[in-house]
Amino acid sequence: MKFFIDTANLDQIKEAQELGVLDGVTTNPSLMAKEGITGRNNILKHYVDICNIVDGDVSAEVIATDFEGMIKEGEELAELHEQIVVKIPMTKDGVKAAKYFSDKDIKTNVTLVFSVGQALLAAKAGASYVSPFIGRLDDISTDGLTLIEDIRLIYDNYGFETEILAASVRHTMHIVNCAKIGADVMTGPLSAITGLLKHPLTDSGLAQFIADYEKGNK
Ligand code: E4P
Repeated sequence: MKFFIDTANLDQIKEAQELGVLDGVTTNPSLMAKEGITGRNNILKHYVDICNIVDGDVSAEVIATDFEGMIKEGEELAELHEQIVVKIPMTKDGVKAAKYFSDKDIKTNVTLVFSVGQALLAAKAGASYVSPFIGRLDDISTDGLTLIEDIRLIYDNYGFETEILAASVRHTMHIVNCAKIGADVMTGPLSAITGLLKHPLTDSGLAQFIADYEKGNK
């Protein structure tokens, strides 16, 4: 299972990269705005800065909502760096754009996916990644993990190569459950990734080991 971090914060990306378990980064316009990154040139530069920190794929989202606009922006993004994956919204024009980029061997991430039907379309269009937003489904009392299970089943039925990128991951159990289901990738905040480290028995066991060592080596 690949671990992506879902942020545009360079310090957090560096921290996850230094942990040695990071496989890529996802961003979106809201995450860029949260970091105060505004203006086309600054945004493009920020994507390159992110690519220079991590080794894996970096999703960069188009702002245009029409087919021609998505193609123009997506081609500009893809030329920025070989690690860039063009992130496209799940709309009619977005599906057409995913197919266009797939035919050109440009990687895509179809985002804002909330149903199996949408995930099926993304795979048919040849998307590299599909991003079902599990946290946002949970927010409206719908089980996000069931969507991941259903997409896994359908993709496996037909051997679709589109990778299931569980997005809108909010906490450690989302990660663990996505791994049990067989999501190919998860993207979440640094807190969810580092949360996997925690267990009170690890802390108390380590404290005991150190105390016993110190007793015997006075
Ligand atoms: C995915 O690529 C999105 O950036 C993201 O996971 C959305 O998460 P949120 O629902 O926590 O905003």
